[in-house]
Amino acid sequence: MQDRLQSLRERFDSEISSAADAAALVRIRAGYLSRKGGVLSQLLRTLKEVDPAQRPAVGDSLNSLKRYMEERLALAEDSLATSPVAQGLDVSLPGRMPPLGTAHPINQVRREIEEIFLEMGFSLAHGPEVETDYFNFVALNFPIDHPARDTQDTFYLEGGLLLRTHTSPVQIRTLKARKPPLKIIALGKVYRRDSDVSHSPMFHQVEGLAVAEGITFADLKGTVLTFARRIFRDDTQVRFRPSYFPFVEPGAEFDLSCVLCAGQGCATCKRSGWLEMGGAGMVHPEVLRLSGHDPQSVSGFAFGLGVDRIAMLKFGIDDIRLLFENDLRFLHQFPGS
Ligand code: DAH
Repeated sequence: MQDRLQSLRERFDSEISSAADAAALVRIRAGYLSRKGGVLSQLLRTLKEVDPAQRPAVGDSLNSLKRYMEERLALAEDSLATSPVAQGLDVSLPGRMPPLGTAHPINQVRREIEEIFLEMGFSLAHGPEVETDYFNFVALNFPIDHPARDTQDTFYLEGGLLLRTHTSPVQIRTLKARKPPLKIIALGKVYRRDSDVSHSPMFHQVEGLAVAEGITFADLKGTVLTFARRIFRDDTQVRFRPSYFPFVEPGAEFDLSCVLCAGQGCATCKRSGWLEMGGAGMVHPEVLRLSGHDPQSVSGFAFGLGVDRIAMLKFGIDDIRLLFENDLRFLHQFPGS
């Protein structure tokens, strides 16, 4: 008898665990426990035929199996009733994809710029966005009270600190930390008190610096031209105009032939055929000296250009502020990685 009860229990267990819905549970309940046809009820009724000596023990086993079955059925019925499917979940519906982001247009361009310079043998350098007056100005040969400081519309912080107004301080950090020959670019955020369609108080620059024996202005021109042709079109022209920056001598600004009209003249280049791209020059002897290098034995070139401008030209964006509003309707138009 005990064996029979054991196999009954096993059969019950396997039926319960494969019961998929409420109807199956009703069927199981009827099969085992219903007063008329239930297997267990029938067995209980045969109890009086069992040998009186064994009857109490068999009776106990039967009753405990009955309680066991009732508990398991109640549990199974409960969990079915509260399951998501019972509450109306349609498991046959197609899944919902989590929204997938894309790289920000600035980061797409950033990667492209860094790759081009890495291929040209430059390495990546970094500096802090919160800078000291020394690195942002003094070591770059901006004398105290020099009017060139005013053109930078600086955000000053407490404790003599400021938000860097350009990536040029990374030149100084690199020159102080490394020995020539060196070739680095530093790409990152810079800050100025300025905001309109072509200015954002936070924007991005990439700084280049090469210092070694015998570096000339021709190296600078070749580097800028190669970069311009890689990032835009391979017929791009570059022109340099004399200009003044305290940390270079001679200093220049450079323009690219308009990447949209190839120099023919269009609305983007204001009919001039040229687009202003950045500043450049030969590292000023005073800058080399201030950071511990002998301007008699090494020379170098430096350049700085606007990353946001490049992104705007590549993606056809005409208001820089759109780049930083984080409007997904805008950002989703540039699905790059
Ligand atoms: N730092 C300058 C600016 O933001 C740009 C610049 C000009 C960088 C000349 C240079 C350079 O490296 O040689 O206005």
